[in-house]
Formats: sequence, C-alpha cells, structure tokens
Amino acid sequence: LSAVKMLPVPAACALLSLAPVLVLGVPPIWTQPEQVHLSYAGVPGSMVVTWTTFNKTESEVEYGPAGAPLFEMSAKGDATVFVDSGEEKRKMFIHRVTLTNLKPAATYVYHCGSDDGWSDVFFFTALNDSSSFSPRFALYGDLGNENPQSLARLQKEAQQGLYDAILHIGNLYLLVHSDNARIGDEFMRQIQSVAAYVPYMTCPGNHEATYNFSNYRNRFSMPGQTESLWYSWNLGSAHIISFSTEVYFYLQFGLELLFKQYEWLKRDLEEANRPENRAERPWIITMGHRPMYCSDDDQDDCTNFDSYVRLGRNDTKPPAPGLEDLFYRHGVDVELWAHEHTYERLWPVYGDKVHNGSLEKPYVNPKAPVHIITGSAGCRERTDRFNPNPKAWSAFRSTDYGYSRMHVVNATHLYLEQVSDDQDGKVIDNIWVVKEKHGFSAWS
Ligand SMILES: *[C@@H]1O[C@H](CO)[C@@H](O)[C@H](O)[C@H]1NC(C)=O
Ligand SMILES: *[C@@H]1O[C@H](CO)[C@@H](O)[C@H](O)[C@H]1NC(C)=O
Ligand SMILES: *[C@@H]1O[C@H](CO)[C@@H](O)[C@H](O)[C@H]1NC(C)=O
Ligand SMILES: *[C@@H]1O[C@H](CO)[C@@H](O)[C@H](O)[C@H]1NC(C)=O
Ligand SMILES: *[C@@H]1O[C@H](CO)[C@@H](O)[C@H](O)[C@H]1NC(C)=O
Ligand SMILES: *[C@@H]1O[C@H](CO)[C@@H](O)[C@H](O)[C@H]1NC(C)=O
Repeated sequence: LSAVKMLPVPAACALLSLAPVLVLGVPPIWTQPEQVHLSYAGVPGSMVVTWTTFNKTESEVEYGPAGAPLFEMSAKGDATVFVDSGEEKRKMFIHRVTLTNLKPAATYVYHCGSDDGWSDVFFFTALNDSSSFSPRFALYGDLGNENPQSLARLQKEAQQGLYDAILHIGNLYLLVHSDNARIGDEFMRQIQSVAAYVPYMTCPGNHEATYNFSNYRNRFSMPGQTESLWYSWNLGSAHIISFSTEVYFYLQFGLELLFKQYEWLKRDLEEANRPENRAERPWIITMGHRPMYCSDDDQDDCTNFDSYVRLGRNDTKPPAPGLEDLFYRHGVDVELWAHEHTYERLWPVYGDKVHNGSLEKPYVNPKAPVHIITGSAGCRERTDRFNPNPKAWSAFRSTDYGYSRMHVVNATHLYLEQVSDDQDGKVIDNIWVVKEKHGFSAWS
C-alpha cells in the first residue's frame, strides 16, 4: 500500500486495476508454509517439523516452552525440491527442521517458515524417553481426503493431547486421481490439524505406489535413511517397526528392495532381541499395510491362504521370503495392519492356526503374535464386506467406520480398543494383551 500511495494517481489506478488479475492468475510468490506435520526423529529429545512451500524459502522453526514468551528459540534446516511426475511436473519445496535437546514431556509452542511467511502457531509435547513411560497411540490406515469419516474426532483428540503419536498404517490416498499431486497437497493440509500437534508416523500403502512412491517418499520424514519406507523407533516399553508390504507387490520398482528390507528387518529384530534391549523395550510391535490374515471378501491377497507378506513369493528369482516366520522367531508381540476397510481382531495366530494363551484368557501369555487390522478410518472406497465364514482365527469384526487406540501400559500390559465413528465414538471392542515373558521363548 505504501508503494501505491507514493505513485501519481493514474499509475496507482492502473496498478490497482491489475491487482485482481494477479490474485486470480499466478500468485506472484508462494512462500507461505502449509501442510505442517511432525514426526519423531528416533532420537530422545527430537522432533522433525516438515512443511511445504511452492517457492524457495529458508527453512526455520521458531519455538519455545509453553508459557514462556513466544519464539525464543530457533532452529534451521533445509528444503528438498520435489517435482511431481504428473503431466504438469508441479514443483514444491519440502522443508525439514529437526529440533533437538527438547525436554522430555515438556510442551512447546512453535511456528515454521521463514521471513517470507510463517505458519499458524502450533504446539506439541516432546516425547518422554523413559522406558517406563506408558505411551498412547491412535492407529488406523486408509484415511483419505475424500470421505475421511474419522478425521474430525481424531483432530479434536490429537489437539486434546489424548495421543503421544499417531500410526497411519498406509494408504494416505496421496495419489488417487492425483491431479498433479494436488490431491496429495489437499490430504496433507487436512491432516495438519492432527499432524502439526502429534508425531504422525507412517508406512506406505498400495495407494502411494504411483511414480514409485515418490509423493510418499518426498513428503514424509521418518527416522532412518530409507525415505520413510522402513524404520524403527522406541517409545515407552515398545520397539515399533514400520515397513513396506508393497515391496512384495510392486516388483517393477525393484525386487532388490524386498530383499534389502528383509535383511534390515532381520538385523533390527536381532538387535531388539539382545537381552539388554528386550529387557528395556519388551514389546515389539510391527506396522505394515497389507495384512497376513483377514476375512474380507474382496479377493485381495490375504483372503487367500498364501498371502505374499505372510509366506513370501516363489515366482521371483531368487524366491522372496515371507515375514510370518521371521516375526514369530523373533517374538513379535503385536502386528498392526490396515488395507481392508474394516476392523478385525484375531486370536493369537501362527501358521494359519490359533495359539491362544488359554481358552478362557486367549491374550494372557498368548502363544503367537496378536494381529489387528484397522483400515476403516474412511476413504473414497468406503468400507469392505466380510466373508460370511471366517476361519477360526477371526475373533471380532466390524464394518463401522472408526480407528483403534493402543496404550502400552508397562512391560506386561498392553491395551487395545476400537472406536466406532458410526456409533458416535463408542468403544466397540477392547482387549488386554498380558505377557509375563516376551521373545521366542514366550511361545512355548
Ligand atoms: C514461484 O512459484 C510459482 C509456482 O510454482 C512459479 O510459477 C514461480 O516461477 C515461482 N517464482 C520464483 C521466483 O521461484
Ligand atoms: C516420564 O514417564 C515416567 C514414567 O511414567 C515418569 O516417571 C517421569 O516422571 C516422566 N518424565 C517426565 C519428565 O515427566
Ligand atoms: C524406486 O525407489 C526406490 C527408493 O528410492 C529406489 O531404490 C528404486 O531404485 C526405485 N525404482 C525404480 C525402478 O526407479
Ligand atoms: C509357491 O508358493 C505358493 C504359495 O504362495 C504355494 O502354494 C506353492 O506350492 C509354491 N510352489 C512351490 C513350487 O514351492
Ligand atoms: C481361542 O479362544 C477363544 C476365546 O475363548 C475361543 O473362542 C476359541 O475357540 C479359541 N480357539 C482355540 C483354537 O482354542
Ligand atoms: C502393569 O499395568 C497393569 C495394568 O494397569 C497393572 O495391573 C500392573 O500392576 C502393572 N505392572 C507393574 C509392574 O506395575
């Protein structure tokens, strides 16, 4: 305005008459941060802030403890250029800043951006890194920008501090009819009201596959050096492993990825099972998109006995090992899945057979891993239907829209429940998994 004021009147009028054209046409600069989301960097006292701008800017987070004057501290990071592979080759800048030396359990207020534009003000609580901490999680997969039934409830609960972290178990619908990555932008904007407040931990699903998962790989910032494809981290008494089931299905992107991931999983599980590590983090919890078991009738992989994820593939050279044996041998306690747009809880299962702790208390000292499939958060494909004759391992099923909650209480007790959005937030299923012993020897 001040520049206009100083111009002679006719020139100012000319400029003003141009203004609507500028606004409606190509914005002159797109330096405003958007799509703000958090993830845990895997190191105690850390948090990564990730966001997007459409023009190049600096990458800075200004922050400070809640209650103190705003923005007394600042941290810098950098941006990577991501060019979508769609026709328009849309270009964006993905900014990442890692905050370090955060005080465990302290709440921080922050905004992100640069002197060319700042985000709204958000807050988060730094993770308590004590292994006796009892973290709470929201769990779901298959939440998309269209028909996101559970989103409003999750937004409110995340802002209320109900969760220490969110596990989004694949299918973020970044790419369905992607409109040159605009759908991805829209989804990332939608989850900001969850993900700018609580670390939002992800794994890839089949709907991220287009252009070799590049939207997924570029937009998220999970721990490790695998572009968020597979990684592990610790919280409370849990060691959490996230991996890609999609390496079993999209061989065109590289069979070597399947073997690389398998070797990494094996090493990570061996490390987590070293006596001193397992004593500190007794729960090993995995998350991957496509389940090993399910009883939906959609003719998907797991509706057959020979799920690729479970048993591997022998039509590849060399044959690809499955994961059921690997997880069983390393005493994985709980396996979280999605992909089926339903909720299903299984009795402890291994080798297609039920291995209850006992008939009365199947989840007390179970003799095999506990599987939960939670893919009904809401997406454009609606919910799935169940096969009317499930196998013996199927314990509870629901086609309501909803999501799960997990509370890792202590070394022996883990609580899981299912929230129904159709029933206004009612808890429709819950179990306690109780284990006096963890690891392979717990099965016998
Ligand atoms: C800012 O971004 C827009 C949209 O991507 C682009 O058209 C324009 O060239 C960019 N300007 C600069 C200075 O980078
Ligand atoms: C972290 O959690 C543990 C276990 O609940 C608790 O004893 C400790 O006080 C917490 N740390 C902080 C800084 O609040
Ligand atoms: C797909 O992406 C992965 C991860 O970056 C990479 O290792 C692989 O080579 C890519 N595959 C193709 C066919 O480009
Ligand atoms: C290949 O694997 C399938 C299960 O995925 C199994 O049914 C079949 O018997 C196997 N074939 C051979 C030759 O091992
Ligand atoms: C496992 O436990 C449940 C609950 O008691 C029971 O319904 C089911 O039949 C048991 N399965 C086996 C194989 O024992
Ligand atoms: C673990 O949590 C359960 C459930 O709250 C409780 O009953 C049990 O006493 C706790 N164990 C220890 C060692 O605190």
